[in-house]
Amino acid sequence: MKKIVNLGLGVVFAGVLMGCSGDKNQETTKSNTLKVAFNQSEAHPQYKALKEFGDKLEKETNGQYKLEISPNALLGDQRAATELVQNGVIQMAVVGNPVVENFNKDFAVIGLPYIYDSIDHQKNVFLSGKLDDLFKSVSKNGFEVVGAYTAGARSIYTNKPIEKPEDLKGYKVRVMQSDTMKKMVDLMGGVGTPMAQGEVYTAIQQGVLEGGENNEVTYADLKHYEVAKYFSYTNHLMVPDLIIVNEKVYNGMTKENKEIFDKLVKESVDLEFKAWAENVDVAKKLAVENGAQFINLSIKPFQENVKPLQESVRNSSEVTKKIYDDIRSLAQ
Ligand code: GCU
Repeated sequence: MKKIVNLGLGVVFAGVLMGCSGDKNQETTKSNTLKVAFNQSEAHPQYKALKEFGDKLEKETNGQYKLEISPNALLGDQRAATELVQNGVIQMAVVGNPVVENFNKDFAVIGLPYIYDSIDHQKNVFLSGKLDDLFKSVSKNGFEVVGAYTAGARSIYTNKPIEKPEDLKGYKVRVMQSDTMKKMVDLMGGVGTPMAQGEVYTAIQQGVLEGGENNEVTYADLKHYEVAKYFSYTNHLMVPDLIIVNEKVYNGMTKENKEIFDKLVKESVDLEFKAWAENVDVAKKLAVENGAQFINLSIKPFQENVKPLQESVRNSSEVTKKIYDDIRSLAQ
């Protein structure tokens, strides 16, 4: 298992990185190398999308900008990485929506259970421009959300097949670190247990958790099938992964470079959706070869159970109401 750097170490890292490279927030500094924190491996579709984004960025800005991607949570877990981006120690990261939800609760609406009907529906939403105002709303925290990647559909995996909410009774299921995620698993019948991704394997192995919930790609990449071999298709979440950029770096770009950057983000999102579709089958095959079982089930009871959460998040502000309705209106 990969060791993750906790928040404390992230800060030490910050000092080290700052010491070596000075103020990188000005476009005028020599190389404009944007350091990107990424918590998945080089085989992940988002890595491929970031890599291509970096290559094109370097080319189209005539070498003024390039990306230096650190995969495998080498710069810390997603929360620590967000702090580094805020402080300008690094310039970019890909972080799960729940991380940003901690800065603005309205983000919960785009990561609600069963809000997207399919990956295509989600892609239409991400490329529709309807989330632009929400994304801009967090810039006062020192970072900008410039786009969203898909992370597929998440399902629950444990040491036994799950077919109905009652099967999860007393089951501690790891969730990403947000109240919405915890409430979601509680409503689905289990006990939502927030934790960083890097700690999950050991926690299941040691019986601290009975399982987790994630997409097939991460399930296979992190070998979670070794400790929880039944992957039950609850398909309850399609939570966006957000591309964040240090606010000063982003707004310090010339108009021309910013246009190139924004255009390439869109292209990268498009490419990532395609890469995602290809990777799911590969991940599933690998997991099955290693003993995992994928179980189909009726999602209806789970959908029913999470309705109060959908309602309460939708009605929590005018912004969430509008976005919820926009997202649903884009469903086919
Ligand atoms: C997915 C998602 C990541 C997230 C992870 C998690 O893999 O893409 O952004 O960190 O789930 O469960 O923490």
